[in-house]
Amino acid sequence: SQPLRLGIAGLGTVGMGVVRIVRQQAALLSARTGRDITISAVSARSKDKDRGLSLSDYAWETDPVALAKRDDVDVFVELMGGEDGPAKDATEAALAAGKHVVTANKAMLAMHGQALAEQAEAAQRSLRFEAAVAGGIPVIKVLTEGLAGNGITRVMGVMNGSCNYILTRMETAGLSYQEVFAEADGLGYLEADPQLDVGGIDAAHKLAILSSIAFGTRVDFAGIELEGIERISIEDIRAAADMGFKIKLLGVAQKTGRGLEQRMQPCLVPDTSPLGQLQGGTNMIVLEGDAVEQIVLRGPGAGAGPTASAVMSDVCDIARGFALPVFGQPATTLEAAKPALSVLP
Ligand code: HSE
Repeated sequence: SQPLRLGIAGLGTVGMGVVRIVRQQAALLSARTGRDITISAVSARSKDKDRGLSLSDYAWETDPVALAKRDDVDVFVELMGGEDGPAKDATEAALAAGKHVVTANKAMLAMHGQALAEQAEAAQRSLRFEAAVAGGIPVIKVLTEGLAGNGITRVMGVMNGSCNYILTRMETAGLSYQEVFAEADGLGYLEADPQLDVGGIDAAHKLAILSSIAFGTRVDFAGIELEGIERISIEDIRAAADMGFKIKLLGVAQKTGRGLEQRMQPCLVPDTSPLGQLQGGTNMIVLEGDAVEQIVLRGPGAGAGPTASAVMSDVCDIARGFALPVFGQPATTLEAAKPALSVLP
């Protein structure tokens, strides 16, 4: 059969992680999907930067939109990021040109996921985004495939590793929020705009995507009750510890009699619970279904290998011909319910 040819836009940590897997696992990927997976062309802001690997086998495009429309590209892999701008322009151009799209762009999907999913559905092309939520944890696959026989009752978890790192470090080192924030920023653990992390926005993007899939509703970022971690003090953390709790930036989505309740806010969770024991930059997603009851997924929420692992899972699905829309059936709109008092999970 014909090879599946990728065009990769964005050659940062994740993009280069994808290039490495495609090269190093070529035989395995081909055996698993029945097709060779190749890279035709790439694009990034700077061509001359040393990325540790030669990219001279691939055509270079300066403009991601041009990359997205190339005849020798079957799947446009969008790893640039950014809610609007080139990422969105190129994604739309790819779908319009009849390409499948794989993206890790949670901000774009949280804001424009509905419209993009509709465009993909109309074009009968696949729009996949396993890497947009919880990095290496294949949570979208678990929800759409593994739990296909369940009515989902609740989705919750820790979806931003940077915030979990900050809260864990405050607690274990007894440092203030400001001290740990500066440390994390220095170590490169925060987004270019750190407010996306500590304001809970990045985590809320992921929650909006997950709850839409879990409940078959429109992606509704604006309906999330959102609070970041900036006001958590070391005293809060100590007081919680005295009572046997940890403070976590927790996302919760559930259907209630009043509509879809989505919140992303600091919560008390029992010390002894899986969420309470989650340390450092790790993510954890708890899924509850009416048949399965509860499952807990834990793993790296960021980084080259983990995020590229998720991208490749989507690429392999497309290679195998699983091209169904992930956002699923024409999304209903549920009234956003103002959350009641925080409930301890
Ligand atoms: N800053 C994000 C996190 C990166 O820590 O989870 C992955 O989205």
